[in-house]
Parts: sequence; structure tokens; C-alpha cells
Amino acid sequence: MALEFAQRIGRIPAYPVADGYALPADVAMLASNESPFPPLPGVAQAAARAVQGAHRYPDPSNGRLRAALADRHGVGADRVAIGNGSCDVLLAAGEALLEPGAEVVYAWPSFSVYPHLAAASGATPVTVALDGEDRHDLEALAQAVTVATRLLVVCNPNNPTSTAVPPGEVAALLERVPPRVCVIVDEAYCEFNLLADPEQSVALLDRHPNLLLLRTFSKVYGLAGLRVGYGLCGSAELRQALDQVRQPFFCNVAAQAAAVEALGHGDEVARRVESAVAERGALQDGLLELGLAPAESQANFVWVGLGDRDEAAIMSGLAERGVLVRAGAALGRDGALRVTCGTDAEDRRFLAALGELL
Ligand SMILES: Cc1ncc(COP(=O)(O)O)c(C=O)c1O
Repeated sequence: MALEFAQRIGRIPAYPVADGYALPADVAMLASNESPFPPLPGVAQAAARAVQGAHRYPDPSNGRLRAALADRHGVGADRVAIGNGSCDVLLAAGEALLEPGAEVVYAWPSFSVYPHLAAASGATPVTVALDGEDRHDLEALAQAVTVATRLLVVCNPNNPTSTAVPPGEVAALLERVPPRVCVIVDEAYCEFNLLADPEQSVALLDRHPNLLLLRTFSKVYGLAGLRVGYGLCGSAELRQALDQVRQPFFCNVAAQAAAVEALGHGDEVARRVESAVAERGALQDGLLELGLAPAESQANFVWVGLGDRDEAAIMSGLAERGVLVRAGAALGRDGALRVTCGTDAEDRRFLAALGELL
């Protein structure tokens, strides 16, 4: 007899995993918005030292990391939630807030995990189209809030379209949303956003107990493989609820140690941001020269429409030339590419390959 699964198993979409994990090393991996650089100096060593004590469970309170982040952002440690990647905090928020009858509002196309929030909980997803420049339409998002809304998610800068909304507009949105509705601002790429200082949104936390800012060590800190991210919460109550729904030891010893060490390397982080921003400019210029019109990126990737060209044929042509990017079709919009800013050599290789295919 076949196994009987929970109804939600039929609803939860599979995460659109990038290809390429089994390919030769000389492939240009521009598909997952990772850092092209290895962990910051001293970080791999800190992780390796922590592994020496791996016969013990990790600190379940994530004490050192929470203290370091509290210090960094000037937010009480009781309002810092750690996660096995920021995705873990996102999913915990869905579990803590949503249930059948509730609504979750988010823009689309946006991060491919957001549909999971409603599917897993039985809540109703309410999606709001991006505006004509592929940015969040904050007015339409505010209007989509009803008495049933429990959660509103804003991805800023937005994955996959790379665009950002200014911090003043996010602040104005928060003033309009009732305090009983949790607002998540997913800031996985905020370090690359030249429109705002990452600390500007942190200043909103004291005014809005319903606000949750998501940050990650996966991108600019180059720790995607260790899985560590965090949420800055407007209230300790929110942080407690996020921890309540998770297993006790969700962040491993190596990830905790690496993240603490990484926070001490601000100068190198700033250099990496500069490098990504320069590569972003080069990619955008190269795409314009090819006659395409990329969106205005504030992230470590670019998003470009292909017009009436065949997306699948371009994807396979790029793969044949050793370049992996993401197809828009897998991310919510057919006929586009999302390309991570890699090293100079990788980005040139992508542009040359795309030039041949066009
Ligand atoms: C918008 C957004 N949020 C969250 C994440 C997840 O990051 P993490 O690796 O911290 O789970 C990603 C990863 O690509 C992302 O694009």
C-alpha cells in the first residue's frame, strides 16, 4: 500500500535547484548568486578549529554569534535570530505565523522559496506583480493587505530581478501596515545596494515590533556552503516564536565560529562589494552592447530579458560553452536570464558565449 503523506506534500513546490554540481571545475558558475571568492581570511581556520570540538553539540543559544551581531547592529541580542541560512529563519516565520485561513502577501517574480510559505502552512498566497521596471510595487503590496493577512514579504533587492526600492519607501510601507501583520524585509543582497546603507533599515526595528530583517552570510561573506544567516527582529516576542518552531541545534559549530570571525573583516567585505559592483557594471555594459536591456541591478547579479529569443536554446548554448546561469522560466518569468557577478574572467566568458549565441 502506498504511503499516505500530509496534504501539504502535494502542494509544496520543489526548489528550482541550479545545475552544475557534477560538472568539471572550469565551468563558470554564475547560477546561484554566490561569492566567486573563498571565505574571508582566517574564517576557514576558525571553522576548522571549531570542528575540533565537533563531538559536542553546538551552543543552542548561538550566544557568541548573537552577541557579535547585537554589537554590530546595535540591536539587543534577544532580538537576533540565527538560522541554518536565512532561509531557515524565513521558513520558521512561515511556521510561526501562518495557518489555513491566513494570507501571505509577496511580490512575484521574487525569491523562489516564498511560495513554500503558503504551501507548507495551508495559508493563502497573495502575489502582487512587479512594476514596469521590475521593482516591488509597494503601493499595490500595501493594498493587498486584508484582515486575514499575517505576513507580508518584501525582497529588497529583489531576487531574481536585482532591483531595489529606496529605504524611505520601505519605511512608508511599514507605517501603513497594521502592527498585527509581520513584515519581512529579505535583505540577502543589501550589502550590494548602492541606494541604501544596510543600517538604514535596522533603524526601523525600534519603531516596528512586527518587522523582521533577514540577512545572510551566504553572499558577501562567502559562506554559502556552511549555511548561516540571521534575522533582526522588531521584538523579542517575534524572535522567541521563530526559535520555538525549530529543532534545538539548527546552526552547527563550524558555521557559528566562521560567522563570528567573518564579522571582524569589514575592510575585506567592503573590497568584495566594490569588486561585485564593478563586475555588475561590466556585465550590464556588456549586455547593453549586445543590444539587451538589463534591469537596474543593486545586487550581486543581473537580470536581463531576452525578448523573443528562445531562452532554453540560449541556456543550453551557454552550458555547452561552460557557463551556467539561471533561466527566467525556473524563477517566475519566461524569456530572461539571471546571471551572478563572477570573477572578471567568468563574466567575460559569459558575455562572449552569449554574444556568439545571439
Ligand atoms: C532573496 C533571498 N533570500 C534568502 C536567500 C537564502 O539565503 P541563505 O543561504 O542565507 O539561506 C537567498 C538565496 O539565494 C535569496 O536570494
